[in-house]
Amino acid sequence: MLSASENDRIFAEAVVRRTTYSNVSRLLHHVHYILGDVHGVERGLDIGGGQGILSFYLATHGAKSVVCVEPEGEGSTEGVTGIFDQLRQDLPNGNRVHLAQTTFQEYDPGDLTFDYIVTGNAINHLNEPACIDLKTNRNSYDTYIGYFQRIYDMLDSGGRFVATDCSRYSLYPQLGLKNPFMPAIEWEKHQSPYQWRDMLMEVGFVDPDIKWTAFNALGAFGRLIMNNPVVSYVTVSHFRLCVRKP
Ligand SMILES: C[S@@+](CC[C@H](N)C(=O)[O-])C[C@H]1O[C@@H](n2cnc3c(N)ncnc32)[C@H](O)[C@@H]1O
Repeated sequence: MLSASENDRIFAEAVVRRTTYSNVSRLLHHVHYILGDVHGVERGLDIGGGQGILSFYLATHGAKSVVCVEPEGEGSTEGVTGIFDQLRQDLPNGNRVHLAQTTFQEYDPGDLTFDYIVTGNAINHLNEPACIDLKTNRNSYDTYIGYFQRIYDMLDSGGRFVATDCSRYSLYPQLGLKNPFMPAIEWEKHQSPYQWRDMLMEVGFVDPDIKWTAFNALGAFGRLIMNNPVVSYVTVSHFRLCVRKP
């Protein structure tokens, strides 16, 4: 069996070869931050998995099966599912990752349950109109509660759910300016991690842990100084939220 660091190298070299990530150590820093300790994870679900990078990391590090739910249609080799197919061929455990080319709402796991579910920068995309007004519209709120209830039901007892995304609140848009660190983000289409945490706890999740994302290039030092809501508010306003099913 290969060590975790050998698996890291095999995974990262393949991803750098096939995607726009250009730096192995920054990629690993990023993925380690998002996924945390994946030792012992057996069955993963990656919601809105895009190119499948998080899914392939789980498979490379011992997961026996991973479902990547990604609705993007079959595309050219530049498309996300084209890159997914290349990574699947390149990586030793690539065939443990199954692409479900559908939305989370349409995805039917049958009897399958998971011990780890992740959604990387996709929680708001599940239903953008509902995400925008869920604090003032009961139907929108209940729609997301329904999604979280499904995630809860798909998880084994003790399993973790991790979500990363931009928060809704950032200094620059609140001043009517573009955030120079995140110029493409439509901030009103996001929610704060505290909002998501409260909703996840409403359906029964426990042990919430919120981290604020640091610039990748700053490495461990960045995590030390940027894991703070105030620093995040004036920079990237990006979080990682982890909860557990009791
Ligand atoms: C910003 S991308 C994130 C991709 C990947 N997780 C990452 O971190 O690079 C958001 C992804 O969510 C997917 N998505 C949009 N609506 C979805 C839905 N209803 N169910 C599942 N995925 C969805 C999109 O196709 C897109 O690939």
